[in-house]
Amino acid sequence: MDVTPGQSLFEAIAVQDRGMITALCGGCCICGTCRVRVLSGDPGPMGPDEAHLRRQLDITDPAIRLACQMRPATGLRVEIIEPE
Ligand code: FES
Repeated sequence: MDVTPGQSLFEAIAVQDRGMITALCGGCCICGTCRVRVLSGDPGPMGPDEAHLRRQLDITDPAIRLACQMRPATGLRVEIIEPE
């Protein structure tokens, strides 16, 4: 799957298959349901909104990121985490 520059991982996934990932807030960085586990590659820097929501949701594992906030570089491999 290709992610164009400036596009979030969630946007790239949604273009191909919106049903592949849960994103209850539609990418507004409110719900935390768009979690992915980074398996390899550079997920890109974490912005303040993502860092804030991660703290609120007590996400401490650095490999877990929010797909709607990630603007990854090339060569990223992730596993989509289904919300509980
Ligand atoms: S879609 Fe809601 S936080 Fe990412």
